[in-house]
Amino acid sequence: MRVLRSIDELRSIRALSIANAQKVGFVPTMGALHLGHAELMKVASDQSDISIASIFINPKQFNSASDLAKYPRTVDDDLAICTACEVDYVYLPEISDVYPEGFDTSITPGSLGSLFEGASRPGHFSGMATVVVKLFNIVQPDIAFFGKKDYQQLAIIRRFVADLNLPIQIQGVETIREIDGLALSSRNAQLTKEERIEAPRFFEILKTFNRTFPNTDNLKDAIATALKHLQGLDHFQLDYFEIADQATLQPSRDISKPLVVLGAILGSQVRLIDNQELQ
Ligand code: PAF
Repeated sequence: MRVLRSIDELRSIRALSIANAQKVGFVPTMGALHLGHAELMKVASDQSDISIASIFINPKQFNSASDLAKYPRTVDDDLAICTACEVDYVYLPEISDVYPEGFDTSITPGSLGSLFEGASRPGHFSGMATVVVKLFNIVQPDIAFFGKKDYQQLAIIRRFVADLNLPIQIQGVETIREIDGLALSSRNAQLTKEERIEAPRFFEILKTFNRTFPNTDNLKDAIATALKHLQGLDHFQLDYFEIADQATLQPSRDISKPLVVLGAILGSQVRLIDNQELQ
């Protein structure tokens, strides 16, 4: 595994990969790596000739300076995980490489960006989309891997890749969970002891809803039951619980289309998001 710090180094690797007809796979991250990222990197290594991860804490996608300050910075551990996952390169840019002086452009997702997480975190998806487009242009991968845990992020990326004709295949990778079901997230470390104990209930409620879902006669009841359980959590407040079209994320009850149930709950310091593709 080699650490790359400059755009020129990435350009040389890309030129060589084209000359050798090698497929480049890319995993963008903000560090604080856990087993969910490890899975993305393993899938990327398996499916590409050259695998590249990036570690860049993108200030533009945080809603407040305090949220950005709280974000864990664990670069030495992160590089050890990248080595263990056998990625070929890690791009570790300086902030001034990504946002040089005078930088004044942003990518703003359309309707997909204002729903759910977009409503609670104004500007978040614009910051995310801007950095992902930049990283795509710097790395120029053939295929890029994103976790399905951030379902809305993945849907937005698929949308702008199609809308902007970016020649990159986007692959969603299944959520990796703790043994008790809690979806892995860099933010789980900010849960209090009590919140950590109750947090797996969130996934259980979504999973139970998914199990009940095929019985459409009971859809209303299933929604009411899930809402009652989510609203009854002791240490979290319900932010949203919605059934939506998997591609557009517009709320939907049309069971002839692929649907997903999405939810978010708020703890004292941290919000948890999770989802289940409905079967
Ligand atoms: O999912 C993340 O970690 C970030 O949103 C991403 C895609 C690396 C962009 O900063």
